[in-house]
Amino acid sequence: MPFAAEAWVARAAAADAAQLIAARRGADDVREKAPADLVTAADRAVERLITERIRSRFPDDRIVAEESAGSDDGVAGRCWIVDPIDGTTNFVHGHPYVCVSIAFADLDGLAAAVIRAPFLSEEFHALRGHGAYLNGVPLRISEVDDPSGALFATGFPFKGGKGDPTAYFGLVADVLRGCHGVRRAGSAALDLAYVAAGRVDGFFEIGLQPWDTAAGLLLVTEAGGQVSGWPGDTADPLCSGRVLASNGAVHEWLRSRVARHVPPL
Ligand code: IPD
Ligand code: CA
Repeated sequence: MPFAAEAWVARAAAADAAQLIAARRGADDVREKAPADLVTAADRAVERLITERIRSRFPDDRIVAEESAGSDDGVAGRCWIVDPIDGTTNFVHGHPYVCVSIAFADLDGLAAAVIRAPFLSEEFHALRGHGAYLNGVPLRISEVDDPSGALFATGFPFKGGKGDPTAYFGLVADVLRGCHGVRRAGSAALDLAYVAAGRVDGFFEIGLQPWDTAAGLLLVTEAGGQVSGWPGDTADPLCSGRVLASNGAVHEWLRSRVARHVPPL
């Protein structure tokens, strides 16, 4: 099995990280990196645990991790992309929609991914060309093909510099008018895992970082779904942070709704 060693390291590190997160429930030492952009002692401890595990097995690989990333840290070559806690705001408030996200990429792109939700007892993982799994059982995207019966997930641009919330709510209202509903649960990584699992039919968000999306993007494609940037984008969504993901059947509908709001978003 290709990338078996990388997948094993990622899944073992995520399992231990999840235990650490669960033990730290009731976040301590909460700080603001920027207004409304939170980090806790648990984020830093979990990131240390995961990076040490990766370094001890693959010392020459590059690691891009949320709490230690520099502004010029790009995804290149053999590279690990780590979000120690995605959904830190939820974690701080005791909301269970929280996960650890670890992806591995090589020169051909994303190759292995794990997303583990400690308070929901779920582990999603994927291997390029070998499918996606939830707690070891193969996953598939949903079969909903009529947007009026679809459920979507998104994230709001609540942090400075991520986009204009007022314009964004215009887009959310536009999507809402044509479907069953739009959810904002607070973890882009888990939102993407939920697209892969067929629990939501599509996801859209801007202003994301590679560690928010890398593992989830592989999960969606390996579960049979489609990922793209926003209308008009030329950059890879992993790098641009402007992400559309879906079961494929509702992708064009979602893309066309989003297109009505670009610009200004
Ligand atoms: C955040 C979550 C959230 C998204 C934010 C991310 P964090 O990650 O993924 O859903 O809307 O843009 O920054 O800060 O909890 O790791
Ligand atoms: Ca994150």
